[in-house]
Amino acid sequence: MMSRKPIIAGNWKMNFTPKQTKKFVEELAPLIEGVECDVVICAPFTDLVALRVATRGTRIKVGAQNVHWAKSGAYTGEISAEMLKAMDVKYVIIGHSERRQYFGETDVTVNMRLRATLEAGLRAIVCVGETLQERDGDLTNEILSRQVKCALKDIDEVSLRRVVIAYEPVWAIGTGKTATAQEAEDSISYIRKTIRRLYNSSLATAIRIQYGGSMNSKNVAELMAMESIDGGLIGGASLKAEEFAKVIKY
Ligand code: 13P
Repeated sequence: MMSRKPIIAGNWKMNFTPKQTKKFVEELAPLIEGVECDVVICAPFTDLVALRVATRGTRIKVGAQNVHWAKSGAYTGEISAEMLKAMDVKYVIIGHSERRQYFGETDVTVNMRLRATLEAGLRAIVCVGETLQERDGDLTNEILSRQVKCALKDIDEVSLRRVVIAYEPVWAIGTGKTATAQEAEDSISYIRKTIRRLYNSSLATAIRIQYGGSMNSKNVAELMAMESIDGGLIGGASLKAEEFAKVIKY
């Protein structure tokens, strides 16, 4: 049996100041000493310095929530992968459904951001997932294979090893409605099959795939017990240190 290292990542979205960041990490770090999984916090750009300082000497890795595809230039308001790398950022979330929904993110721009991220030597958490309408229309697998295929266009096998995929059904995000463990497992194993089709079975077995969408200390164990699920991308439940620690220690 191949064993994949679990990865629990918090997505703080647009929450917390540097001061709150420091306080949060001071509370969280002692609660998760000795855990074995990868732990990441994806914070707003403005918190990254504070997060990097506060997480020194802990097992928490610093992540960002978006990145621009260009190396530098006239892109007012944007941040490049090189800039993130220079701040010791290790992970970048790409293609979150909120960005697809509110900020015009497309499969094409997801791919551009992913290529820039991997070229800079960073790791990526690429988000995919269907809307409720798509699920009801029986389009889930079609949407997932399209999103995965487009996101990974021109990504070579070696670089793919630095990619984590997050399956986040849009209808489960921030709604308190979690996919059942079996629904999550079905979609995630379908994503794995898609990777096998696009690459090969050893990469399909090796790639880590998270579940995201109203994941919390109450449902984490059941989700993590599923064969294909390797971790979580946690929104609301990553904003309280005690609750997030419980998720990490599922
Ligand atoms: P919630 O955990 O708040 O549902 O958010 C999930 C999410 O979007 C993580 O990226």
